Amino acid sequence: EKDGHDWFMRKEIHEQPRAVADSLLGRRTPEGRLHLDEMRLSDQELRDVDKVIIIACGTSFYAGMVAKYAIEHWTRVPVEVELASEFRYRDPILDYSTLVVAISQSGETADTLQAIRHARTQRSKVLAICNTNGSTIPRESDAVIYTHAGPEIGVASTKGFLTQLVACYLLALYLAQVKGTRYGDEIDEVMRQLEAMPDHIATVLASADAIYAMAAEHVDTRSVLFLGRHAGYPVALEGALKLKELAYIHAEGFAAGELKHGPIALVESGLPVLCVVPPAGRDQLRDKMVSGIQEVRARGARTICLVEDGDDAITPYADTVIRLPKVPVLLQPLVAVVPLQLFACELATRMGHDVDQPRNLAKSVTVE
Ligand code: F6R
Repeated sequence: EKDGHDWFMRKEIHEQPRAVADSLLGRRTPEGRLHLDEMRLSDQELRDVDKVIIIACGTSFYAGMVAKYAIEHWTRVPVEVELASEFRYRDPILDYSTLVVAISQSGETADTLQAIRHARTQRSKVLAICNTNGSTIPRESDAVIYTHAGPEIGVASTKGFLTQLVACYLLALYLAQVKGTRYGDEIDEVMRQLEAMPDHIATVLASADAIYAMAAEHVDTRSVLFLGRHAGYPVALEGALKLKELAYIHAEGFAAGELKHGPIALVESGLPVLCVVPPAGRDQLRDKMVSGIQEVRARGARTICLVEDGDDAITPYADTVIRLPKVPVLLQPLVAVVPLQLFACELATRMGHDVDQPRNLAKSVTVE
């Protein structure tokens, strides 16, 4: 049942090219327009949307952070991303023109469910992004985008996360199509880039051994920092969460630009710092990231850099380089998170932990 893998999680990491491909399947009409099966909100209702609020927990929340960048970039509609557990307690501003997007792999997370119930009392439309057919959150929503990851058994979310990202990109592009904020050929181009992602993810998986070797060098590590910018920032947060959950070591993700505002005080000799470097096409972002890497390295950090293939500007400042396929910055999380999943899975395995059932965690959190 684990297909020769030691853990469901490792199997599920390796299923990601297929899960992403399946989540993209059947989303276009023969004329090439985007079509979402259970959208159930009319074009007019979507045109009336003037604000999007994304609510989710944990890993799903990080998918929501990426979604914010994509939706705002392609549609110019303002997006807020909020932890479901905070949402209804702060008296959020909602009305009929607010689209609330609930992201939940399980569809049963109590915090998220209570948040959408609150949103519906305020007459907002709720769209669920969910991996579990017929679960409570999609049943209580006005519309659904189902992800097609297949059952996720490992408690830590992996393929669930990648397919949530796909659904978020699809939603962003669909809104752009309906609202007319992007031309059809632009949407087409992004769809083609998305359809190329399963192969790119497979390329990253093919170099798993190099990441495992790196994990082997870190079994005595007690603390790891993760840095990212733009869409790489949520990837850094997700990499840190995976390490906490599975290896039980202190890990924190930061927006690289925040380093100098405090976190750099944590850096000491030998501290591993994992850096998600933006693609070279985004030079301003990339160059700022490079200077962040230089700063932590000058203070003795061991830098592990996830870098686009062919970008050598970082090499002098990287103790370890992990190559990523060339992809657009907004889509980079789909490839950049994979080495971080492999790293956490391998490190936890070497430390003797139960990767599929980490201590104190449950797959569905059905209490608030
Ligand atoms: C992390 C993880 C959790 C979930 C969170 C939300 O690996 O699995 O952080 O992402 O509990 O769960 P769903 O998406 O089912 O609402």
